Amino acid sequence: MMRLEHADILDRIASGGGDATAFMDHAVQALKDGVADYTWVGIYLLEGNELVLGPFRGKPSPHTRIPLGRGICGAAATSGSTIIVDDVNADPRYLACSIETKSEIVVPIKDGDRVLGEIDIDSDRPAAFTDRDRELLERAAALIAPVLRRERL
Ligand code: SME
Repeated sequence: MMRLEHADILDRIASGGGDATAFMDHAVQALKDGVADYTWVGIYLLEGNELVLGPFRGKPSPHTRIPLGRGICGAAATSGSTIIVDDVNADPRYLACSIETKSEIVVPIKDGDRVLGEIDIDSDRPAAFTDRDRELLERAAALIAPVLRRERL
């Protein structure tokens, strides 16, 4: 279910300013506001071999630091590719954040082949994420990547 057109969400993300944290905070707000099915929206940053939770919207997660080998988040960062899970309870990799969560998408934020972080979204609706969400979020990740890369130079 959409509240905003995907192009409008991307325009809103692109119009973000300030430092990388402010830019990411604005981006997660735009995604949370834009799509009703996006129950929890957050960005994890890769620091060494750990994913560290940055800006998010939704209930606080117990998973503020995730080692690369763990969770759907760790799997997406390791593979460098988007992962969509239609039924989190059927995926042995899943690290639970809320008992309401039914499906999840994790989209790496990359500078070339190097993973800088990822966008993680949970939905309370089963199989909430389609190829259209993947396209929206991969484009959002491409807007966030240069901002993160600049901060890390
Ligand atoms: N479900 C994720 C952990 C992060 S919480 O959803 C916010 C995972 O399995 O990696």
